[in-house]
Amino acid sequence: MPNPLDVLPVADGVGLPWDVAVDDAVAAIATARERCGDTFVVESGGGQYLFTFSPTGVESFYALAEEAASKGIADFLMLRRKLPDEVFAGRRLLPSSLFRRDDVTSYLANLDRALDATGVELGESGSVDLFALTRRLGHRMGLASWAGPGCAEGEAFERLVRAFDVLDGSDAFVHPDAMAAVAASGMRAERAALEDISEVIEASLRQYDSTPEVGLGLFSRIVDAWASEPPDVRTRGIAMDVALIHIASMSNLMAALGWALVDLIVHPDQLRLVAGGDRDLAASCALESTRLAQRSIMARAVLEPVAFDTGAGVVDVPKGWTIATLLPLLNTSAAAGLEEWNPSRWRRHRLVEASTLPSPMLVTAFGHGKHSCPAQPFSLAAMAMAMTRLLGRYDMRPEWKEYPRPVPAQIGGVARAADPCPVAYRRRLD
Ligand code: HEM
Repeated sequence: MPNPLDVLPVADGVGLPWDVAVDDAVAAIATARERCGDTFVVESGGGQYLFTFSPTGVESFYALAEEAASKGIADFLMLRRKLPDEVFAGRRLLPSSLFRRDDVTSYLANLDRALDATGVELGESGSVDLFALTRRLGHRMGLASWAGPGCAEGEAFERLVRAFDVLDGSDAFVHPDAMAAVAASGMRAERAALEDISEVIEASLRQYDSTPEVGLGLFSRIVDAWASEPPDVRTRGIAMDVALIHIASMSNLMAALGWALVDLIVHPDQLRLVAGGDRDLAASCALESTRLAQRSIMARAVLEPVAFDTGAGVVDVPKGWTIATLLPLLNTSAAAGLEEWNPSRWRRHRLVEASTLPSPMLVTAFGHGKHSCPAQPFSLAAMAMAMTRLLGRYDMRPEWKEYPRPVPAQIGGVARAADPCPVAYRRRLD
């Protein structure tokens, strides 16, 4: 079997935004695809990336086995540009273990309470940045769900919000161009934020130890996982488990909710129905906005040589390479009409026209195959709840001049808005 470099085109002059200055990271790969076809190699920062966009290539991508081509390691290699190693080392409860049925029930109850608190903060009328609003909502729901007593209120909450806004792992793919400066500083700001987070969680743990509360769900599970350790190790371990879980949870959900609200605000017919409480329609709208807002690079780090079918032949991808595809180059172009926002293309959680595509795997909001998102049902329920409640309670009018743009350098996750995205709101008459 040939080495990819013997048979595939190399996209000359194209680099990834962690390694070279790139104005628009997605556009750079799109240009490479126009020049080179559906499967090509990018050499960047001393590494080799096989990008594939063909129907067979994308299917081969989703079929890769974790032992040979690892999503976990590819994610770690990306996130460690922003997060100090101690956030990852020795974790006992991982973000993948968050979605047992009773967990989800408790997160949704916390979201309900966080929406009450948002209502108090918004008052009767005013103007607010939509993405700032959803981000704060996400912090409040998440910290109430896994960070221990007192962490979702008052000064402890504000302190954690400030610290997590600095220690935001998604910066690694939203602002990849900033990672060289993060490395040059020795992650000073990130480490200081981590210490702040540890202090707040430690205080919360003291409160928990003095009156262990029944029903603190995930936090109790985290505490139990460290029960047999000496006090220092236990406290630090619990704080780092909470930190990694919160960082993982922040990365996509609240950005996706922001786009779902933006899209409904500019589509009054669907807005009326969602404001009237139609949660099924709200979930379809959430899927549709997420599909369109996807900027995800999906990557697998090759751990042992892999025979990979690109659709034009099988290549032997060497150890150390990365195999990747990019959702924004597929989701809106795999068939005519996909560039439009149309929630009725989703029935329950399935794309109606999937069977008419060259491969059903060419379009997705939450991924395909064994690594697809374990948080999808929860995320859609949470977005639908937040959309019906916020839009049912407030009449919202856009104050942005143009439909918001994604951060151009972003390559990964759900788009973040490049500019402020203000809306004027007024409480509806009951
Ligand atoms: C709208 C919100 C979200 C979107 C659009 C989203 C999207 C995705 C996608 C596309 C994948 C597959 C990536 C791949 O194959 O490389 C994925 C995986 C994953 N997501 Fe989400 N996600 C969301 C919310 C969340 C939340 C709230 C969590 C909670 C921590 C989460 C945890 C995970 C985990 C742990 C995986 C990896 C699963 C595995 O490797 O088996 N996601 N997500």
